[in-house]
Amino acid sequence: MASKQDIDFIYTTLDKIYRMSQGDTADFSGAMYNGDYSMTLEAAQLAKHDFITDNLNIRAGSSVLDMGCGWGPMLNHFRKIGAKGVGLTLSDGQYQACKQNGFEVYVKDVRTVKPDDYGTFDAVVSLGAFEHFCSLEDYNAGRQEDVYRNFFETVYNLLPKGGRFFLQTMVITDKMPAPEEMDINADKNSDAYICALVLKLHPGSWLPLGSEMLIRDAASYFKMINISSGRLDYIKTIQEWNKNFRRFNLRKYALLLRMGYECLARKEYRHLIPVFLTSPIKVCFERELMEHYRIVFERL
Ligand SMILES: C[S@@+](CC[C@H](N)C(=O)[O-])C[C@H]1O[C@@H](n2cnc3c(N)ncnc32)[C@H](O)[C@@H]1O
Repeated sequence: MASKQDIDFIYTTLDKIYRMSQGDTADFSGAMYNGDYSMTLEAAQLAKHDFITDNLNIRAGSSVLDMGCGWGPMLNHFRKIGAKGVGLTLSDGQYQACKQNGFEVYVKDVRTVKPDDYGTFDAVVSLGAFEHFCSLEDYNAGRQEDVYRNFFETVYNLLPKGGRFFLQTMVITDKMPAPEEMDINADKNSDAYICALVLKLHPGSWLPLGSEMLIRDAASYFKMINISSGRLDYIKTIQEWNKNFRRFNLRKYALLLRMGYECLARKEYRHLIPVFLTSPIKVCFERELMEHYRIVFERL
């Protein structure tokens, strides 16, 4: 799986710039437009929050665990409706930001959570974190589905029978090149190059193959209640993020310049520059190399 260092590499490096561009507790995962792309990004993120609370029967007094809470958008929503949210992250920058906003949050690998750590919950959510649970090394060693089955078992142990779990994650499709074909020196328009950039952006992370793998690996613990594709919604979300990133703000531009300088100076960050110019994840969605799913599960 992605190590704490891998996660910090992207989320803590981006921390200030992201919050200045998108808002202090903004979502860092695809929104839910329900086919209406005239909606603002904020309205589409709120539609997602409402979908989750409705489908997971979350109400005032409910306790909810957010596994991979980012800057706390769901925790913020739970607080607004009077539910008790607990968030887990591996990013120190996100942890500090969440604490400043008064959220209950811990730096903890979600894959190791036991009921003894924070208790059990009425519902569990995880948005945009599952992508980091299996590494390329796990995949190459044939451990991918064990990683996912163990994770579903972890969530199962935190919920009562009938308790619901919302999972939102990117997956790869069978159009995705094999890892050994991905090449940072390939033609800049090729799938091999675009996918190599995604790997540079998220070192230590590899994705599940289709929704079938998710449902299969969850099957001993959860039945699926609802599934929808968020691929087109994610393309629109990234377009809106890019607009917000570009919007002028002197402090943000100074930070971007400093980050650009660090990227040039440090070999391991160098590929972040084309990542920010190309939005490779958006290109993967556009070329259908990747899909994106929102799944409501119910504990057996
Ligand atoms: C793309 S962000 C999504 C954040 C948030 N869920 C949202 O929708 O805005 C991914 C989050 O997953 C967290 N994460 C990834 N792997 C993790 C792990 N093994 N344990 C805890 N957090 C993890 C990262 O720290 C980050 O907060």
